[in-house]
Amino acid sequence: MPITTCIFDAYGTLFDVSAAARQAADEPGMEALSDIWPALAEDWRRKQLEYSWLRAVTGAHTNFWQVTQDGLDWAMEHHGLSGAKLRDRLLQLYRDLAAYPEVPDMLTRLKERGLATGILSNGSPEMLADAVRSAGIGGLLDDVLTVESVGVFKPARAVYDLVGARFGCGADAVLFVSSNGWDAASAASYGFTTAWVNRRGDPVDRLPGRPHHEVADLTHIPDLKVF
Ligand code: LAC
Repeated sequence: MPITTCIFDAYGTLFDVSAAARQAADEPGMEALSDIWPALAEDWRRKQLEYSWLRAVTGAHTNFWQVTQDGLDWAMEHHGLSGAKLRDRLLQLYRDLAAYPEVPDMLTRLKERGLATGILSNGSPEMLADAVRSAGIGGLLDDVLTVESVGVFKPARAVYDLVGARFGCGADAVLFVSSNGWDAASAASYGFTTAWVNRRGDPVDRLPGRPHHEVADLTHIPDLKVF
């Protein structure tokens, strides 16, 4: 079956999740972040994901904006940071994350090939709408699918089911692209063809599924020999 539909994870894949802490660290009055912003960003992301998985396995779903705030609160306390001004600024920047620079051209090339494109993300609808708008990529996406309609986070299979339900295609017609190794692995187990965006040169995750393709960034997604 030829690939007709190209679906992207959002946070970390299209949108640079470390940009919020990096950008805040450059602003006046934010000197407390200057040395530690990379570690803060790393811990924030790690806790956000851990909380999403724990809420999925315990059946205690809440939306991704809540786990994003909970992850930040843990990370700020861990690094000895406090204050509503700092917290509010980091969260505001997270709502307006930049897309990686290659994203608009890459999506344009996929649309020129006649492919359907979309996002499948843990993000809440409001978070995703803000990120898509601030990145200016709404016109290059056919839809933005969010876990909120099934009430459980990735990698629950019910989330990957949303793609076939929306685009009317089988799993074998989907290329799923994620920078999260666990997401690419789980999507491969589900039956999607998968591309793992491994920007940091990490080892592959030891999970039942293996990503079919590995790329260093999103530039060459349209050149993969899957279309
Ligand atoms: C997402 C998270 C996993 O966008 O990055 O779904």
